[in-house]
Amino acid sequence: MQATLQHLSRRQAGPSRRRSLGAARCPPGAGLLTSRAEVPGPATMSTFLSGIQPSGRPHLGNYFGAIRRHIELQEAGGECFYFIADYHALTTSRDAGKLRESVRDVAVTYLALGLDPEKVALFRQSDVKEVLELSWLLACVTGMGLLERAHSYKDKVTHGIKPNVGLFTYPVLMAADILAYDSTHVPVGKDQVQHVEMAQDMAASFNAVFGDVFVRPEPLVSERETISKVPGLDGEKMSKSYGNDVWIFESGKALKSAVGRIVTDSRPPEEPKEPKDLLLFRFLELFLEPSEFSEWEARVRKGGAGSPGYGHMKQRIVQAVEERFAEARAVRAGLLADPGRVDAILERGAEVARSRARATADRALRACGLR
Ligand code: ADP
Ligand code: TRP
Repeated sequence: MQATLQHLSRRQAGPSRRRSLGAARCPPGAGLLTSRAEVPGPATMSTFLSGIQPSGRPHLGNYFGAIRRHIELQEAGGECFYFIADYHALTTSRDAGKLRESVRDVAVTYLALGLDPEKVALFRQSDVKEVLELSWLLACVTGMGLLERAHSYKDKVTHGIKPNVGLFTYPVLMAADILAYDSTHVPVGKDQVQHVEMAQDMAASFNAVFGDVFVRPEPLVSERETISKVPGLDGEKMSKSYGNDVWIFESGKALKSAVGRIVTDSRPPEEPKEPKDLLLFRFLELFLEPSEFSEWEARVRKGGAGSPGYGHMKQRIVQAVEERFAEARAVRAGLLADPGRVDAILERGAEVARSRARATADRALRACGLR
């Protein structure tokens, strides 16, 4: 494992990794962390980067909208940097113990669901101090107006969160995360697209003033609404902050009780209905094979004696969640029992990430005259 990680570190170090804004492309490249001979040239390399906040247990929305895709991308060709955004979590977290626990939980979740640490650099955001340095450089070329337009900031304030300066400058730190690793593609849910676009703006502003330093990143969002905006138990977007979420590894009684809370239609089950109007169907669609899903759809459309009751649909959802994550649940238990292994994976990921971020930060420092 060590040897393969070194391949990535060596590859990152060279200045030839630099690509100009607008040059980012997403062709299939050679596999990540393969032998040097198979590594494609910088112009064709895709770099996937994403972060997830350790602000509670990852839920089904995080899984379908982000984590599953992140893990799939480890096979897409290119290189992957995924991190646990603990600096970002501090904009709202006030409980040190919970934050620590949550960081571990996110790492274990990714690993249990199939992230391969030989193919991906998985790390803690705060292990790469370079992002703080880059944050300042970017803040100095960012207008207040850009940040004042951030939907996520405005939403949080509307939901009664008293904003601190960290929350306001959140998109600057996020831009630093994205630009530090020369990311070409940022796989995120729809709610994060504006932040990636802000990173594009900040990169363009810096480059316009100081020369060609940062690579333009593109957001990667699923076109399927079911996936890019997974509904919560109440039909709104599933989110930890709305209390309408289902933990990925929920099971048994707790899972039954969560699924029991999915809001159902007030019409009787026998009345013919358009399945897409039923929240339960948006959940079924996430889990069922298309052939089985079509059968359920046909029965609901037809109505009458053959139409399934809402309780029946809920049972199917519970069974599907249990089955989908059964194997991962077992892997998770093993990882929780071996914290040293998880720490070692995060530390190795951080080493890889730091070396890339250092090169980018040095380039930026030189460009703006701080070196
Ligand atoms: P939350 O809203 O629960 O706090 P985060 O903001 O930590 O979730 O999101 C982590 C990742 O999961 C982001 O890429 C985000 O776009 C994605 N995500 C969060 N909620 C959903 C959802 N309901 N549907 C699809 N993707 C989501
Ligand atoms: N803001 C993201 C979220 O709440 C987490 C995040 C931090 C991130 N930095 C990032 C996502 C960089 C993608 C790229 O989900």
